[in-house]
Amino acid sequence: MGNKMWGGRFETGPAAIMEEINASIDFDKVLWKQDIQGSKAHVEMLAQRKIVTQQDAETIYHGLSKIEGEIETGTFTFSRSLEDIHLNIESRLTEIVGSVGGRLHTARSRNDQVAVDFRLWVRDTVDSLNIQLAGLQLALATKALEHAGTVMPGFTHLQSAQPVTFGHHLLAYVEMHGRDRSRLSDARRRLNESPLGSAALAGTSFPIDRDMTAKALGFDRPMANSLDGVSDRDYVIEVLSAASITAIHLSRFAEELVLWTTPQFAFITLSDKFTTGSSIMPQKRNPDAAELVRGKTGRIVGALNSLLIMMKGLPLAYGKDMQEDKEPTFDALSNLSLCIAAMSGMVQDMVPDVKRLKKAAGAGYATATDLADWLVRELNMPFRDAHHVTARIVGLASNKSVDLDRLSLPEMQSIEPKITIDVFKVLGVDNSVKSRTSYGGTAPNNVRQQARKWLKILAK
Ligand code: ARG
Repeated sequence: MGNKMWGGRFETGPAAIMEEINASIDFDKVLWKQDIQGSKAHVEMLAQRKIVTQQDAETIYHGLSKIEGEIETGTFTFSRSLEDIHLNIESRLTEIVGSVGGRLHTARSRNDQVAVDFRLWVRDTVDSLNIQLAGLQLALATKALEHAGTVMPGFTHLQSAQPVTFGHHLLAYVEMHGRDRSRLSDARRRLNESPLGSAALAGTSFPIDRDMTAKALGFDRPMANSLDGVSDRDYVIEVLSAASITAIHLSRFAEELVLWTTPQFAFITLSDKFTTGSSIMPQKRNPDAAELVRGKTGRIVGALNSLLIMMKGLPLAYGKDMQEDKEPTFDALSNLSLCIAAMSGMVQDMVPDVKRLKKAAGAGYATATDLADWLVRELNMPFRDAHHVTARIVGLASNKSVDLDRLSLPEMQSIEPKITIDVFKVLGVDNSVKSRTSYGGTAPNNVRQQARKWLKILAK
């Protein structure tokens, strides 16, 4: 026997391997809520336009509500032989309400149905990721305010560069996640159009009201071209692209947490809640959560790649290839959500070692730029000359294995006679960060101001 939903022309059922490759119910069942939501909007419109009778519409609507209850309470039986979520629900509807259930699919195809369901699901997910990211920003900005004056080494090339503040470092991620959120919001704005009513690909001859269903489902408007409506997945690709960039931001910070918690750095400690021990080495505190945030970036970026490659070369309109859009998307976005949650937890609980950070901040002649700037400002030297003089002073300190502020004045003067005792004021790390008052710079007052600005934005 052929499939009971479309088996009219079929004499035999599918080969077992056909069911294996074709059925999507194992993963697309998560779309059940959106599927019922879309069907309810559709049937209300069909009644309003007198395409089905009011009575039939009510029967169908109640049947759908019953199915909703069954799925919610776990009594619904999903069947692989019914391929996907759409056919599973429609088939159960007919079981419950009889042949009138078959009227639901008037002026509709699974092609626009799946396009609606997935858009709704992606939209809901974007909204919750956005809220989660705001939570992470709040955790970062709160820590940043607390540590606006905590000096730490700033690196370029992972070599000591200039001292910065811990708060400044955290606020860099607040900015990045701000852009991540704005990318998600942009994508949401573009995706919020309804494909419902595109039908299989060409629209329908029934007098449907696409504005009505679009409105009922919270879309801004119906999509203007039915071929486009059933055949593009650019909105998922956009969201996965925003998700990938977000994941990369999370991964960079995760890498820093891994580095900072290693005993050779020991810049911060993560709480017991976000570390694990080793079964053989009793001294270990492994930053597994951070490592997994870093590691999961692979599958998130991978999902973006999957969809780009799956879509490439598909002729209009719908192709079954597109069923492959779901697993990577579900996987990527649920893992991203997990990563944001884990990162928020780690940030809330992490404790920087203020003393050690300060000591490390001075290592590697990190105030050499401050010395060069002093030579420019006080001795009116061209910066290139100041750079040269500073390099020689650093060389001297290095030969003596001391920090810059441990050289004596005569030692400095042996390289540049005009240097005065005043120079020692700029060689300390606290003064170094305090002097970086340019907009966006690391001066504690700047950092405090920026952290407060963000806390205010995030409280809205
Ligand atoms: N399960 C399908 C998908 O995810 C639904 C659409 C099927 N359409 C079709 N004409 N076979 O894409």
